[in-house]
Amino acid sequence: MRVSNIKVETDLAKDLPQTLADPNQLQQVILNVIVNAEQAMTEAHGKGVLRVSTCRASAGIRISIEDDGPGIQPDHLKQIFDPFFTTKGVGKGTGLGLSICHGIIKEHGGSVEATSTPGVGTLFTIELPLVAGQQVAPKAKRAAPRPTAPATILVVDDEVSIRELMRDALETRGHTVDVAESGAEALKALAAKPYDLLVSDLKMPEMSGQELYARVQVEHPALAMRTLFTSGDTVSTETKAFLERVGRPYLLKPFLVADLVEEAERILAPAAAPAAETTSP
Ligand SMILES: Nc1ncnc2c1ncn2[C@@H]1O[C@H](COP(=O)(O)OP(=O)(O)OP(=O)(O)O)[C@@H](O)[C@H]1O
Ligand SMILES: [Mg+2]
Repeated sequence: MRVSNIKVETDLAKDLPQTLADPNQLQQVILNVIVNAEQAMTEAHGKGVLRVSTCRASAGIRISIEDDGPGIQPDHLKQIFDPFFTTKGVGKGTGLGLSICHGIIKEHGGSVEATSTPGVGTLFTIELPLVAGQQVAPKAKRAAPRPTAPATILVVDDEVSIRELMRDALETRGHTVDVAESGAEALKALAAKPYDLLVSDLKMPEMSGQELYARVQVEHPALAMRTLFTSGDTVSTETKAFLERVGRPYLLKPFLVADLVEEAERILAPAAAPAAETTSP
């Protein structure tokens, strides 16, 4: 396979054991690493070879992504997973890509490492543990959410009526709900105490839901995986691209309160719950 002058070679193990992971988040990690490699190779040589392989590792599953780009100098290599570390020009990179990857893989109980030889290339190695209880039967039809334990939820929306509506609906289900009317207020609330779920509007003045989410991914990676977006009915192509990229669920306004509750509790339900329901002992 060849994509924009990059030759892609894959060597994927056939019988990898199953594990439990968030597919959207993993896709985001792999995409981030591949886009970095593609940019590095293209910038350095205008071409390159990308090798993607998977295999069984002692601790679980290993995914290796290797490029023959310019490599990374040792003093940079120490910093690549730091938030905002970038060698790309202003407007080209935020330096958040790898710190988000690191957060996601850590949340999955795995590890991500990079080794590099300047002038030769870079190898990213991602390892994921095998999570028990993964013997999931063929997907059952969309199961109704189980009653969830009371959770602490932060609702962010600049429109007071919508905020309060969401608060009421979630409080009725026994959850503790705080509200914030802007991204800045939300960040303050998030710094003050832990939350189980974040429900955020995308279109808000000053800090957009997208910008808020970028901060949450870095500062509260676990919560980023438990974020539900709401959005006006006219979704711009930019917003659509964002939603596709992050793979988080979203509700289009006007939405039914029942849909909000269902979606929220689906996210809050323990990840292993569906497996337990569909597996016979
Ligand atoms: N495969 C690679 N080859 C060479 N350098 C790399 C590679 N992957 C990452 N880097 C270096 O690591 C830095 C940080 O990467 P990271 O993905 O965190 O941010 P970014 O790519 O600069 O910005 P963003 O991901 O927000 O677009 C990059 O700026 C680059 O210097
Ligand atoms: Mg990047």
